[in-house]
Amino acid sequence: MFKLIFKQYKAKSSSPDLNDVLNFDDPLRNDRITAHRLNTCHEENIRSIPGLKSSSTWQCYELRDHPGILVIRNPFTERGLRYWIARCLRDYPRPPNIVNLNERLFDETVRSDWWKQLHRCQHKDDFQRTKVAMRWTTFGYHHDWDTKHYDDHMHSPFPEDLSLLCRLFSSTMGYEDFKPEAAIVNYYPVGSSLSGHVDYSEPNQSAPLFSFSFGQSAIFLIGGRSLEETPTALLLQSGDVLIMSGESRLCYHAVPRILKDHKTVNCDLSKEFDDSCGGDLNALDMDLFEHVGNLSFWQPFSDYIVDSRININVRQVLKPGQLLLN
Ligand code: SIN
Repeated sequence: MFKLIFKQYKAKSSSPDLNDVLNFDDPLRNDRITAHRLNTCHEENIRSIPGLKSSSTWQCYELRDHPGILVIRNPFTERGLRYWIARCLRDYPRPPNIVNLNERLFDETVRSDWWKQLHRCQHKDDFQRTKVAMRWTTFGYHHDWDTKHYDDHMHSPFPEDLSLLCRLFSSTMGYEDFKPEAAIVNYYPVGSSLSGHVDYSEPNQSAPLFSFSFGQSAIFLIGGRSLEETPTALLLQSGDVLIMSGESRLCYHAVPRILKDHKTVNCDLSKEFDDSCGGDLNALDMDLFEHVGNLSFWQPFSDYIVDSRININVRQVLKPGQLLLN
């Protein structure tokens, strides 16, 4: 059933039928979701990260048919969204992080600084080829896509800003001890997809998985423990935070379709340094946080997400008390 539904949403010949796709903005469908109460005592921690709206405005839902699947509808300010998009495009795909770019097709200058070299492409075709070639970057423990294992020797530092963001969300959800140890940033040009899989490579399979969506929206399928079970289709929009926890942590999931429906906001935010509350100005790269408010700085990032989606997927790898993998 999972593969059949995946194929239906993926089919390029038609625009997808969104009637069965759960949209968290559509109150008529609220019989399939329940409101999930967040730990509000963490408001002070939330205020410590610039670019997040006050938690009193956050809407968090749990799927009735998939207990443990939680979605927080975009808790980011416009400047916050821009910051994370820029980090994913400009900074995260650089060494020592690993990227998918093939060494037979791209030389070292592109593989070590894709975003910079992309904007040096002279020809439209070369630009487009280089743009869509970037599909993933890994950091922290690097996921080995062939062996499906992590290795103590395949590790790069986990960025402090993303670690802080994940620890904030995990404590807000009641997972005080969550340690962000491995991340995959997935880049999805419109027309691409990710087939059904279960994330079972982590020795720690009790810790939740945090997934942040930016740019264009996606149809996300969440199924059960077997491919026989009928999946539920959700619409994930820019800024949404999806948490796979509890009994849904090891369920099949997939992204059959990227939709081109998200309009980017291109106003100049540079006059209002942050459109959220105060914040610990050392937590993020504050030069970048400031610059994304400037229209000409933001334009190339805005152009990228006109036809692309970005997903940051964060996992804890080690079990509590475990120091080494092998
Ligand atoms: C993943 O499962 O690795 C990515 C999911 C997503 O892009 O939302």
